[in-house]
Formats: sequence, C-alpha cells, structure tokens
Amino acid sequence: MNNSKNILVTGGAGYIGSHTVVDLIQNGFNPIIVDDFRNAQKSSVSGIEEIIGRSIEVREIDVCDRVALKKVFEEFSFSGIIHFAAYKAVGESVDSPLSYYRNNIVGLINVLELSIEFNVSNFVFSSSCTVYGEPTDSKVVTENTPIQPANSPYGNTKRIGEEIIEDVISSGVNMKILCLRYFNPVGAHASSLIGELPIGKPNNLLPVVTQCAIGKIPSITVNGNDYDTIDGTCVRDYIHVLDLANAHVKGVEWLAQQENPIVENVNIGTGKGTSVLEVIETFEEISGLKLNWKFGERRAGDVVEIFADVTKSFNLLNWKSNLSARDAIIDSWNWELKLKND
Ligand code: WQD
Repeated sequence: MNNSKNILVTGGAGYIGSHTVVDLIQNGFNPIIVDDFRNAQKSSVSGIEEIIGRSIEVREIDVCDRVALKKVFEEFSFSGIIHFAAYKAVGESVDSPLSYYRNNIVGLINVLELSIEFNVSNFVFSSSCTVYGEPTDSKVVTENTPIQPANSPYGNTKRIGEEIIEDVISSGVNMKILCLRYFNPVGAHASSLIGELPIGKPNNLLPVVTQCAIGKIPSITVNGNDYDTIDGTCVRDYIHVLDLANAHVKGVEWLAQQENPIVENVNIGTGKGTSVLEVIETFEEISGLKLNWKFGERRAGDVVEIFADVTKSFNLLNWKSNLSARDAIIDSWNWELKLKND
C-alpha cells in the first residue's frame, strides 16, 4: 500500500484545481500539479505558493501526451490522483466537439491507464451535474436521478467519462474511484490570491456579473425571464469553490479508507437554488453598484432549474458545504477588484 501523501492533480493550476491544491496542502497532503497552462495562468501557481508559504512541484505537461505523462508517474510515487484537466465550456463544446472529445476522453484514458500501470488505486474524477440534463420529475437531483442524453458535447464527455470508469471497475482492476458531480462552481479564495481566470469573454454568470461591474464588459443579458421558476429566470446550485475544493480532500481521505475496488458518483452542491435575478440583486446589494442588465432570449441548452440533493455527500464523505452563494459573490467581487488593481 503506497502510504505517500503525494497526490497527482491534473489541471491543478486551473480554477477548481488551484483551490483544491491549497486545501490538500493545508490537510497534510503533497499535491504535484500537471498542467499545460492552455486554460490556466502561471500566476495561479505563484498565488498558491503565496498562500501555502512554500514552493509546489509543477510539471508542464499535456495529459494527452502519454509519454510525457508517464515520466511523471516514474518520477513520483502517488497515493492518489485528482483528474481535473479537461475543457469545460458548454457553448464552446458545441462549436468544437472534436477537440472536446479528444482532450477530455483521451486525457482521461491516459491518466487511468497510467494509474493502473503504476498501481495508483485512488482516483477522483471531475464530473458535472450536466449528466442529469433537464431533470424530469424533481429539480432536486439525487445520484439516482436518471442520466439523460447530454445537451452539449461537454456534458457528453462527462457522461462518457463516467461510463468508461464503470467499465474499468467492471474489468476487475484494483481501482477505487469517486466521480464528483459538481453543480455551479463560483467564488474565489478569501485572500484574493487565486480565483477564476476566464480566458476571453466569460460564459458563466458570476464572472459576467463581476466583469460588467468592473467595466470589462458593457452589460449583462439575462437569458430568459419566462421560465416556470420563482422569478422566471433559471435556478442553479452555486457552490463556493472553497467548499468544492474541500470535497476533493474528503474524497481522497475516503478513498484511502476503502479496501476493495469501488466506484461512487456523488453530487457536490449546497442543496439550495439561486435564480439569475437573485444573483444580480445580491451582487448589487453587496457592492452598492447598479448593474447594467436587461432581459434577453433564452439560451439554447439551458436547464430551467436544478440543484443537488446533498444527502450522499454528507453520509459517504462526511462533507457538506459551509459557505453560501452570497459568500461566493462577495469573494468573486473581491477577486475581480484585485485583478483590476494588479
Ligand atoms: C447559469 C445561468 C444562464 C450568463 C455551466 C456548465 C456546468 C459548469 C458551470 C463546469 C444560466 C444564465 C449566464 C449570462 C445569463 N461548468 N446566464 N447571462 O450553464 O448552469 O453551467 O457552467 O464545471 O457544467 O454546464 O452555468 O453560469 O453559464 O449559467 O443569464 O451572461 O445563468 O443562462 O441560466 P451553467 P452558467
């Protein structure tokens, strides 16, 4: 049994990855980052190092480059792996499906194959609530809510990833795997030293809100106001990235306690829904600013309302979210202000 505290974190310089690396270190682990910085900036690594007060091992490698990735497994002995490295923009995936399938599926296969080859049995896969599509019966989804055909190539790569993992476990290999189905990650580290760094125009709501407030983009279009929800706008489960990061630490700790091969899918959310208008109103109240927004057309592929049933994440991983969407909006705004000052 490999008792090293070394954890391979692919995509560890990214938004969720960087916050997870900090929490891993603060919980006694030794994360090694593999990232090719196509969707991350080197400033994230210096932000991590400033928070933790020491340097961190980084290997600038594309997870689709199996030869290069194998060298990392030869260099370090890992007790676990958290695989974040993947493309994750819903709209972009519709325009360039093949780059999503290649990057997200080939990357996963490489990391799984090398995990098996080097007997690294503890594996956390970064999945998504998009696997549920538009929930049919209830907007509160449990892990047993039926998986539906994905409404984007991005969502499909997550569904396929989970199916690949099921088949790997069924093949009898000695792997213990957690698929964490994230809801909507938002927020930033309280220090404002790390946070979300959207490349180009952001797709996600909160960076759009903070970039509009700071003046980077002129206005916000609220995509639809005639849905059957509390105020006609879409509802999501916005989870603070610090809580999401800690779910990965609890996941690695749970995997280390498992004796036999196993795979578990777990929702990682707050269990509460927040509408687009509520996000905007909360931001205005916190910042004291009036946002320039207007109603527009519905966005193709949008789910109307979805939020997590959080029972399993608590019972299995002894994890629950502690921070609210409001906390995340405050931290996101502080991060946007820091970016401007830098
Ligand atoms: C939320 C709501 C928009 C921008 C996606 C992925 C998910 C995860 C998070 C990776 C929707 C509305 C947004 C804007 C708006 N990705 N909106 N105006 O689509 O729920 O989830 O990102 O982990 O897997 O599917 O997030 O923030 O894009 O949208 O009205 O300018 O905000 O229409 O209703 P989404 P989002």
